Parts: sequence; C-alpha cells; structure tokens
Amino acid sequence: MRSRNSVFCYEGYSFVVFKEVYKPAEDTLLLARNLVVRRGECVLDMGTGCGILAVVTAEMAARVVAVDINPYAVVCTKKNADLNGLRPKIEVLLGDLFSPLDSSRKFDLILFNSPYLPVEEDEGGSWIEKAWAGGETGRKIIDRFIEEVPEHISQEGRILLVQSNLSNVRTTLDFLDQSKLQAAVVDKEKLNFEEIVLIEAKKQPEGACT
Ligand SMILES: C[S@@+](CC[C@H](N)C(=O)[O-])C[C@H]1O[C@@H](n2cnc3c(N)ncnc32)[C@H](O)[C@@H]1O
Repeated sequence: MRSRNSVFCYEGYSFVVFKEVYKPAEDTLLLARNLVVRRGECVLDMGTGCGILAVVTAEMAARVVAVDINPYAVVCTKKNADLNGLRPKIEVLLGDLFSPLDSSRKFDLILFNSPYLPVEEDEGGSWIEKAWAGGETGRKIIDRFIEEVPEHISQEGRILLVQSNLSNVRTTLDFLDQSKLQAAVVDKEKLNFEEIVLIEAKKQPEGACT
C-alpha cells in the first residue's frame, strides 16, 4: 500500500487518491481514451476506485452509478465527484459487483477495469489488493461479472471491460458469447510483463444466429 494519499490529473479533472485506493494506471487510461458517451446515457462504473471513469463520463451522461467493494473507494469517489462539480450526477454505492443494484436497473454503458491478475491463494485480502487480485486464474471477478452483467445492460447498451492476457482473453470472449453478447478486442497495450486489452461487448441483435 502507498504510504500517502496522492493526486492524479486527467483531461482537466483532478483526483485525490486515498492510499487504500487504486491509483489510475495504464489500464485506467486504456479505458478512458476509448470512452464514447452519448448525451443522456446512463452509465455504470463498476469497481470505480477513485471515481475517475465515473467523473469523466458524468459530463455527458444523464446519470452515473459508481460501485466499489472498497469502502475507502466509495468515500474517495464521493470526494472526487464533489471536487469536480459532478456530485449531483454520480450515485456512489458500496457493494460486491451488482449486489447493490436492483435487477430492474439497466445501463447504456457499463465500464469495468477489473481485478484481473492471477495471484497466490493468500493474496487479495487487503482493500488495495482487491484492486488487482483475480484469484489463482485471474478470472475470479471477471467470470462473476460476465454472469451477472446481461441483466443490467439496456437493449442498445455496451460494455467496456479491461483485462490482461495473463487471465485468458479467449475465455472472456467465449463466456460473453455464451451470455449472448457480441464481443471483440477493440484496443490493447503492451506493458513489461503482460498485454492489457480492452473488450467491447454488445447485446446480439434479436434473432441473430449464434
Ligand atoms: C483495477 S481497479 C480500477 C479502479 C478504477 N476504475 C480505475 O480504472 O482506475 C479495480 C477496482 O475494482 C474494485 N473491486 C474489486 N472487486 C470488486 C467487487 N467484487 N465488486 C465491486 N468492486 C470491486 C476494487 O476495489 C478496485 O477499486
């Protein structure tokens, strides 16, 4: 864990990042630079961290719901929504994936820079470790997300999911397909020990062959 809170700036927005919260990194920016939000859309920022993606999308969106399992991230996101003048548009919820959301809530855009790293069995216990720890295969949270996400996507909605090649991108594409979502890798970036990829998924059109 970092020993101090820090500050992060992006596209004219400023963020305080509590030491217990994930500091935006290459994976955050991979998602941020591919964001297209249409005026009036409802956005879900799953695993919001310091709230950077929630704040960036809130300008155009009608409403943003930001969820995180880390209580420090929830407080941090509220603070950053305030700091950037967007608090009235951002609802911040504490919880495990979709558990704080009613099943009737649908979103036009769902974002998730997921915890995607394969880790030892005993890693992932602290709040900050939960930002990256994806269990032994790296897929612990990704698989649950894919199982639950179809219930919350609007008919024309789309999902942007970040993961690493270390946690099997092919499996993600196959699972999304099984959940009747059309998915493809739309951007990627090579880092030192891994390649991070951005996957976009949409509902398959009614009547489409699968
Ligand atoms: C890689 S960080 C991304 C943070 C931020 N969205 C960004 O891009 O900088 C992953 C985030 O997911 C949160 N998270 C992990 N497991 C979760 C779960 N089961 N439900 C909700 N959030 C979770 C972590 O606390 C962390 O804030």
